[in-house]
Amino acid sequence: MTTVAPAWSLLENASLHPFNTFHVHASAPRLLRVGDASALPQALAGIGDAPLLVLGSGSNVLLAADPADVVLVFDNRDIDILEHRTDHAIVRAGAGVIWHEMVMWSLAQGLSGLENLALIPGTVGAAPIQNIGAYGVQAGEFIQTVEAWDRQCHDWVRLDQAACRFGYRDSLFKAEPDRYLITAVEFRLPLLHELRLDYAGIREQLQAMAIALPTAADIARAVIAIRQRKLPDPAVLGNAGSFFKNPILPLEQVQLLLQHYPELPTYPGSGAGSRKLSAAWMIEACGWKGQREGDAGVSPDHALVLVNHGSATGSELLAFARRVSASVLEKFGVPIEPEPRLVGAHW
Ligand code: FAD
Ligand code: EPU
Repeated sequence: MTTVAPAWSLLENASLHPFNTFHVHASAPRLLRVGDASALPQALAGIGDAPLLVLGSGSNVLLAADPADVVLVFDNRDIDILEHRTDHAIVRAGAGVIWHEMVMWSLAQGLSGLENLALIPGTVGAAPIQNIGAYGVQAGEFIQTVEAWDRQCHDWVRLDQAACRFGYRDSLFKAEPDRYLITAVEFRLPLLHELRLDYAGIREQLQAMAIALPTAADIARAVIAIRQRKLPDPAVLGNAGSFFKNPILPLEQVQLLLQHYPELPTYPGSGAGSRKLSAAWMIEACGWKGQREGDAGVSPDHALVLVNHGSATGSELLAFARRVSASVLEKFGVPIEPEPRLVGAHW
């Protein structure tokens, strides 16, 4: 699949309204669009060491202020099969490829692995940043190599899976924001693998669809149906998916909490000594689900999703998020942290 975009272009005073799914109004002094990643060093030459923010679809950012200088958007949308073996293929996708299109394309090629990650908004280039995950799978499991321009060393780098240090909503790239400008991602996708059906809701959805022996493509269809039911569509109601991460706490603290709140859902943590808690459940228990203050609110469909009902500013959404997290801290003694990147503000 090949698309042609200009090598690069620079626009002054660009609106970022189309580049964030909260639909917040903000603008960038300079917007750099790169269609041919090999032209990136040349495109960056005129920018020097100016502060730079990379944006994909803006589905995991909260623009609390205008970015300081340059916003970089990748428009390279090629997907290529680099190797096709009997049991797997190596696929390389440009940073600008829309994630969901990558998932559906891979399934159409008979490749599996990404099916549980269907319908996650955003781009391939952003997928490694927080190691996107859903329905029991994380993208990092299938990422073989991340190609990036290292702004610190002024050189190209190829980072393998171990170097990316993937964790729950975490990676090397979060530790050093804007150092690595990701231009492409290589995936190792199996032709056949053990399907992941255990996340709550998948089996029920397959049953409702009358599918007894699901294929990877069936799982994608089931996940799409669940997501469409549970999550507000950003095209209709501005949001950035889960606004808070599910907190991971030491086992002893979780056991104490469960004595008071036996229904609080918990999941495996980062090892045997910790558990992950449902932030949505705690937010709902604090009475926030469906509430709004001005145009900032919590979705009536999912307590973890903050929404912009119309003209909330980034700082209004942030102030609202702080009130939600303060009440969870007060009731449960558990700090919850934002998942989206905050631009122009600190948590
Ligand atoms: P942006 O929001 O534009 O950027 C996110 C971060 O990545 C920023 O720090 C940005 O600087 C950086 N970045 C982006 N591209 C690059 C690049 N090429 N190089 C270097 N840095 C880059 N996430 C999940 O994990 N699981 C879900 O199930 C999920 N569901 C969602 C549902 C909805 C309705 C919405 C709106 C969001 C959801 N998200 C989910 C969050 C979001 O889709 C992902 O985080 C996605 O990867 C963001 O992609 P993006 O292109 O929009 O990135
Ligand atoms: N729940 C509530 N109230 C709600 C919603 C959920 O109490 O309004 C409780 C229920 O007990 C439910 C549980 O929370 O069973 C889990 O809900 P869900 O399956 O929706 O998962 P989540 O923990 O809320 C996480 C990710 C999502 C991802 C889903 C599915 C985080 C921060 N969020 O949400 O990712 O799609 O699991 O795997 O880990 C995102 O990152 O933006 C995102 C949407």
